[in-house]
Amino acid sequence: MFRKVTSAFAALAFSAAVFAGPAFAADDPIVIKFSHVVAENTPKGQMANKFKDMIKERLDGKVKVEVFPNSQLFGDNKVLEAMLLGDVQLAAPSLSKFERYTKSLQIYDLPFLFKDMAAVERFQQSADGQKLLHATSDRGLIGLGYLHNGLKQLSASEPLRVPQDAAGKKFRIMSSDVLAAQFQAVDAVPLKKPFSEVFTLLQTKAIDGQENTWSNIYSKKFFEVQPYITESNHGVLDYMVVTSKEFWLGLPVDIRNEVKATLDEAIKFGNDVADQKAKADRQRIIDSGRSEVIELTDAERSQWVEVMKPVWKEFEEDIGPDLIDAAYNSNM
Ligand code: SIN
Repeated sequence: MFRKVTSAFAALAFSAAVFAGPAFAADDPIVIKFSHVVAENTPKGQMANKFKDMIKERLDGKVKVEVFPNSQLFGDNKVLEAMLLGDVQLAAPSLSKFERYTKSLQIYDLPFLFKDMAAVERFQQSADGQKLLHATSDRGLIGLGYLHNGLKQLSASEPLRVPQDAAGKKFRIMSSDVLAAQFQAVDAVPLKKPFSEVFTLLQTKAIDGQENTWSNIYSKKFFEVQPYITESNHGVLDYMVVTSKEFWLGLPVDIRNEVKATLDEAIKFGNDVADQKAKADRQRIIDSGRSEVIELTDAERSQWVEVMKPVWKEFEEDIGPDLIDAAYNSNM
């Protein structure tokens, strides 16, 4: 028995009736290629594999999920274009990587906006957060849900305790102007580079540092080539699980409802993994002895907040002051 579709997607289900999507051959399974850039032992990697396994249990013969981790199929600069061309059906790029499609999701990159992941979750589940899942739909991409990774830390070749320590250093960032402004605020040099290139850039010392979550720093071995990690928790790295409107609305309605319900369960599973990995991978890095984890004093942290927070004002017009207030209020 197929589950009931959530109300947010009822409207999409209705538009499917008038949308001429791709036709699926009656006897062949519908193939969902899920492309992502991280390792399998990460929240996103585990969620994708769980989704694949659950779809096999529930829709065997009707739908087949193929997962491509580690940028094997598409890197993060290509996956959304490939999705619009029908070459991949599911992805979960970080929220920072949608800038070419919408300015609204830039809210998630504002430094020091959320005090912890509980606040992120509250905002994402609020009416404002849910509305943002539709921010790219006029560009042909539908957000099916949020997936957590966690809060970002700063890794570097030298210890970073106060903002002046970052001045003049080169940091790899995801493709986001907010993240560029965040590093410019501390007089550092931001470089937009794909995730697949980060390890080599760090290893060859072409860059001095980068920002990422504990699970990405651990699973991609950045800690082996970065002697210092500042536990700054200065921003969030979460994902929007996304598909193309053409593919989604072209699915038979019973299949679409079951795929969505299964995805919701896989996301919940992935969020639990994210929570565990944020603690476990931090500890694994400390235990390795390869990288020193720097805990900031309150006074040191306040200095980072003071220099980075003005970035909010710079992007207020694009994002909307009310939305920023709503996100900020999710900390209460
Ligand atoms: C990801 O977690 O998908 C990659 C994040 C990054 O590009 O740093």
